[in-house]
Amino acid sequence: MNRDPRKFDEPEQFRLDRSNVREHIAFGRGAHSCPGGPFARAEARISIERFLARMADIQISESAHGPADARRYEYEPTFILRGLTELHLSFTPIR
Ligand code: HEM
Repeated sequence: MNRDPRKFDEPEQFRLDRSNVREHIAFGRGAHSCPGGPFARAEARISIERFLARMADIQISESAHGPADARRYEYEPTFILRGLTELHLSFTPIR
């Protein structure tokens, strides 16, 4: 459902400003929704903040993933999560 175009316009785009952004089901819904959700969100926020504090000019590697209009990615073979097997980036270290 997270990638259902009937629910989310242009579902392949990562857009944090969707009006219904909180309706995703990455952590499930209802009685069995993920109790680790707040912890996982905090981990992700802190990790991203620490990456951004140390890297500038972050770019997706064209040699590994192709040009911007035709990226190629591989995903872990599971229906449960949509996880990249590899993500190649280039960046300028800040410190
Ligand atoms: C990005 C990280 C995570 C994702 C995407 C995720 C996703 C999910 C989803 C979709 C469910 C619901 C499964 C269902 O419908 O039956 C779930 C359940 C659960 N998650 Fe997570 N989870 C994450 C991290 C964590 C963490 C860090 C913990 C513990 C520290 C955790 C503990 C649990 C437990 C115990 C359940 C079962 C809840 C129940 O059945 O009542 N998860 N998780």
